[in-house]
Amino acid sequence: MSIRILIVGTGMMAHHHTEAFEAMEDVEVVGGVDRDADTLSEFCRQHGLSQSFTSVEAAVAWGQFDAASNVTPDRVHHATTLPLLDARKHVLCEKPLATNHGDARDMVVRAEDAGVINMVNLTYRRSGALTTASELIRDGAIGEVRHFEASYLQDWLNLPGWSEEPFFLWRLSTAHGSTGTLGDLGVHILDYATFAAGASPASISCRLATFEKAPGRSVGDYVFDANDSFTMHLQLDNGATGVIHSSRFASGHHNDLLLSLHGTRGALQVSDIDGREQLRGCLGNDVGSRTWADIPFRPAPTNFEKFVAAIRSGRSGEPDFARGADLQKVLDLAVQSSDQACRSIDVAT
Ligand SMILES: NC(=O)c1ccc[n+]([C@@H]2O[C@H](COP(=O)([O-])OP(=O)(O)OC[C@H]3O[C@@H](n4cnc5c(N)ncnc54)[C@H](O)[C@@H]3O)[C@@H](O)[C@H]2O)c1
Repeated sequence: MSIRILIVGTGMMAHHHTEAFEAMEDVEVVGGVDRDADTLSEFCRQHGLSQSFTSVEAAVAWGQFDAASNVTPDRVHHATTLPLLDARKHVLCEKPLATNHGDARDMVVRAEDAGVINMVNLTYRRSGALTTASELIRDGAIGEVRHFEASYLQDWLNLPGWSEEPFFLWRLSTAHGSTGTLGDLGVHILDYATFAAGASPASISCRLATFEKAPGRSVGDYVFDANDSFTMHLQLDNGATGVIHSSRFASGHHNDLLLSLHGTRGALQVSDIDGREQLRGCLGNDVGSRTWADIPFRPAPTNFEKFVAAIRSGRSGEPDFARGADLQKVLDLAVQSSDQACRSIDVAT
């Protein structure tokens, strides 16, 4: 039987969701929801959707869908997901799951109560290189993980034109719902690194940085107060220690994730450079000669494919809301750590 999907929030990323679902067999996008009537009608026209709603509640009252993809801005994920869960609809929600751990946990509990499939769109789980790295580490290929370094680098704040695009501007302004680089990119790279390492953060410290980008630190009503870069130090619950950092000022990097993991018996490097994946290892007998070699990997399913497969099988799909909430807790603590300038020692004193 065909699975009927509702798209909630019909902005930029919603086109990608819709195209991904429409490309699957026996999956049908049946309608769109957006509070902005112009965006909604243009989206429905482009994708040939006959059902459109200006609120989730109106769509739920109509009810003729099995699942929803929530592609609204971060700060409305919580409010727009709850009515869907209460109506027992399966939900794939964009990342970050919420903007604070309390809301994220609320979504986990409500999804469990509803007994529906719940997933968060941590895009880079689609990486075959990442999946193979996590399997190799789980199987002991590098021994005990001791050290890791991970980064997610973008460069758009160094390129002309960003200050004229609302697409970029809202990402710099907390009043427009941004949690900065930490919430936007940090959630991806935190998931990427800890998924591969097969361990969870046990303790963290973090520094957020916000740089001057325009006279008066604003353009129109977009006040540039969200963080542009962060540097985080983590201890994982398997004893490994490492660093994660991210920036929108990383010249030479359009959209690049890089991860190195070092263990007692070898090392892996996994990367996603503008969508080009690579997995390399220094393993076994090659450790002594410090020889690195490419490791083959199979493509992994996208979150859209996993979501549909989970609905069909009735078995929960990964990454789920609980994973999204765990990551959100780390993001909250990172802000707290930065605000408290934890154990910062001024070099000049
Ligand atoms: N996984 C990824 O790699 C990835 C990439 C880009 C964006 N995202 C995430 O996707 C989400 C959407 O981002 P975007 O760039 O498409 O934003 P966008 O602003 O282009 O689109 C969001 C849409 O939601 C609508 N909306 C706002 N409040 C609403 C509400 N209460 N009910 C219904 N509609 C509402 C807006 O009118 C807008 O049309 C964000 O959470 C973002 O972090 C994820």
